[in-house]
Amino acid sequence: MAEELKVIGKTKEEKYINLIKQLKYLISKDDNFISLLANVSSAIHYTFNFLWTGFYIVEKDKLILGPFQGPIACTKIDFGKGVCGRAWKEKRSIIVDDVNKFPGHIACSSKSKSEIAIPLIKDNEVIGLIDVDSKNYSMFDKIYEKYLNEIAQIIINLLK
Ligand code: SME
Repeated sequence: MAEELKVIGKTKEEKYINLIKQLKYLISKDDNFISLLANVSSAIHYTFNFLWTGFYIVEKDKLILGPFQGPIACTKIDFGKGVCGRAWKEKRSIIVDDVNKFPGHIACSSKSKSEIAIPLIKDNEVIGLIDVDSKNYSMFDKIYEKYLNEIAQIIINLLK
């Protein structure tokens, strides 16, 4: 495992490409699932300086708070509820430009202005989610979606 991440790049695309290269050394099949998610949340969070970066894990009919970086967060989310529950239900990424305008948004921090939720899909089942919150409105776009999906896929591939 690398001791330190040094993610270089001028644009977010360059940073993601560099981050993903390093993630391949940082995480491995031997890692415990929770340890793996913990390191990935830290790597993403400190590369982009988001407000909150973490995972929710599907447990029966709820999402349970997993490893994260940032302010404390709600520990359980029902199927279909909030941004995360919706991404789980619809099995797709959801980008929210202004969380105040998303009906049913679950506010864990009043500082959160925009959000992206990316499902982790294994064998056609959502097993968890990457969730990221920003202090800025309209932070997340197709580029973030693309690379966070790549990271989700790297995690899923390690579980196979
Ligand atoms: N806002 C999310 C809840 C999780 S926190 O943002 C960490 C939602 O509406 O599902």
